[in-house]
Amino acid sequence: MKKIAIFASGNGSNFEAIAKQANGFEIAFLFCDRKDAFVFERAKKLGIPTRYASIIKEKENYEKVVMSFLEEFDVDLIVLAGYMKLIGKDLLSKWEGKIINIHPSLLPKYPGTHSIEKAWENRDSEIGITIHYVDQGMDTGRIIEQHAIKLNPNWDLVETEKQVHKLEHEYYPKVIAKLLGEK
Ligand code: GRF
Repeated sequence: MKKIAIFASGNGSNFEAIAKQANGFEIAFLFCDRKDAFVFERAKKLGIPTRYASIIKEKENYEKVVMSFLEEFDVDLIVLAGYMKLIGKDLLSKWEGKIINIHPSLLPKYPGTHSIEKAWENRDSEIGITIHYVDQGMDTGRIIEQHAIKLNPNWDLVETEKQVHKLEHEYYPKVIAKLLGEK
């Protein structure tokens, strides 16, 4: 069975969606860099091991600590799901091509934060998600898949966000299973 690590920093709805639709792979552990993140509650309920490190406490050792977790669990793929940090040089060079991320916009449109809000404010005709490999930039890596839907002009921001997250929860687990099947 292929194993993945999920890196998250906050709510963890993607983490939970992946856990519940893990088909042909398992989540070896959750890594989270914020002690009070809600994703820890979700992991506890799902019985998934967790690891924590804080960049403030660990400083220049942070990535070394993260890499020691990856070695401990011997994972095949790192899945970023709301992980609010760039991946550093050492981790990236060791794991290049094996780290993926999900972003709530049709990249290259709206990298960074508040992407859904920006698409909604601009009254874009289409909104969507991008699943991509991770490189040194912010939301710049090679695109694996994108999925779009029409932005209904009657949707408020809350509804628009709901629709985008629905796409994320539907497609992220499938893409992970597909990539691991190819390895
Ligand atoms: C998602 O919209 C994801 O695309 C972005 O951060 C958000 C994380 O949400 N990178 P959650 O923590 O999975 O609920």
